[in-house]
Amino acid sequence: MNNFTNISKLVFDLGGTGSLAKQLNIKPSTISNWKRNNKIPQPYHKKIYSIYLGNNLIIKNNDEIKSIDAGIKKTFKILMIISGGIACYKSLELIRIFKKMNFHINVILTNSAQKFITPLLITSLNGGKCFTDLFSVEDEENINHIKLARENDLVMVVPATANTLGKLANGIADDLASTVLLATHNKIVMAPAMNPFMWKNPACQDNVAKLKERGIIFLEPENGIMACGEEGAGRLTDIEYISDYILNEYKSQENKTSNVFFENSKLKNLHVIVTAGPTQELIDPIRFVSNNSSGKQGYAIADEFMRAGATVTLITGPTKIRKPLIHKIEEVTTAEQMLNSVLKNLPADIFVGAAAVSDWKLIPYKLENKQLNSKRKIKKTNLDTNCLIFKPEENPDILKTISFHNKRPKIVIGFAAETENLIENAKLKLNTKNADIIVANQIDKNNNVFDSDFNKVVILEKNKLKNYKKTNKQQIAKFLVDKIARNYI
Ligand SMILES: Cc1cc2nc3c(=O)[nH]c(=O)nc-3n(C[C@H](O)[C@H](O)[C@H](O)COP(=O)(O)O)c2cc1C
Repeated sequence: MNNFTNISKLVFDLGGTGSLAKQLNIKPSTISNWKRNNKIPQPYHKKIYSIYLGNNLIIKNNDEIKSIDAGIKKTFKILMIISGGIACYKSLELIRIFKKMNFHINVILTNSAQKFITPLLITSLNGGKCFTDLFSVEDEENINHIKLARENDLVMVVPATANTLGKLANGIADDLASTVLLATHNKIVMAPAMNPFMWKNPACQDNVAKLKERGIIFLEPENGIMACGEEGAGRLTDIEYISDYILNEYKSQENKTSNVFFENSKLKNLHVIVTAGPTQELIDPIRFVSNNSSGKQGYAIADEFMRAGATVTLITGPTKIRKPLIHKIEEVTTAEQMLNSVLKNLPADIFVGAAAVSDWKLIPYKLENKQLNSKRKIKKTNLDTNCLIFKPEENPDILKTISFHNKRPKIVIGFAAETENLIENAKLKLNTKNADIIVANQIDKNNNVFDSDFNKVVILEKNKLKNYKKTNKQQIAKFLVDKIARNYI
């Protein structure tokens, strides 16, 4: 919005003279006068801002106008196309999340999507018009389909049906959604969802391959049991994953359009290194020493720091869960590799050692103190007496190395998983390892931390500790990130 400095441009942006006159219930000649004098009378300002926002905001005073103007300049605009799959309803949650982030969303519902959800539902959630019709006279006057295609930072299709992605792959434009998809020059992100056989069908896969080649981003469907009862790849990926992707996208475009979302974040632009998951220490090319760490807590912390505006490097051991959408991810196997990766990524402002690092590697020996060749699989037939001994070799202590390093990050956070004497052991770790915070969890049958989505932790700082109720790992990550932002930055 141009703050009423270029009235011709403003009128154009708002749909042209005729359309704006209709919306303001005034004569087109009045608007022509405004354009000629490059001035709009004050009583119309509020209404014009409301039209610009497209969400019927009731604006009360001029200060509010100023703040809304600032907001407009910063708003990240998303065009969300909802096509007609059973997963349609999930896109409603996305709208809610994006609204919370102050993103501006235009929504197009295909005809098929309207069999599942209604434009009224979208309008109620989004507080703005829901677009459905390519040949709507009213829409064409207000915001024509080309503008709808262009005036956004990103176009997303959630869920993307086989039909909609097929049409785009083959240049078909027979409704509003497909026309806008062809007309846009903005980034397109598609999250397909369909029956596994549809997804696997070579016709669909060829279309996907074509679109990927043209730079369209796919947030691939997941495995699972479908609404139709069939099982396989085709389920819409997690809404959280999609919102993370968009958030990341927003952050990478932040230089072009900034947003109030992170404005107050003290963590903005800080570099945070997070380690996560287990390490694997090879015994031979096939066997290894490791633990059951899933990586969930570390990934949640990395994700939370990213949401708070920090730049995050995640260094992860081998995990089976999906990687969060973090600025930089390095995958490692052993403790030694993990340490090297952390050192390579210094300097950082914050280090969080959430990985369950193996304290030892086990070196295989034959009975007569002869070390076995670790490059080859140890076979029973190689052991004359059928006797195998393992000698422990200590791994580097990553937390200690980083917290005593000359490039020590300002804040160093470690994790402690203990089966007994939780607090004493955690306090000892806090002091001997020169950490600022230890997140401690008791491993017992009531708190099966590994692989669970939940955890019960005690957070220890230099002179205090706090017990937290059992809660999910994302929530624990939030507690930690909030604490750091509040007390340490
Ligand atoms: C109950 C029902 C559920 C459907 N679910 C899906 C789906 O999940 N994914 C899909 O690609 N098509 C699905 N379809 C088929 C699409 O609705 C159909 O291909 C339609 O032409 C898509 O139009 P659109 O891409 O313009 O929204 C479903 C159809 C019905 C009747």
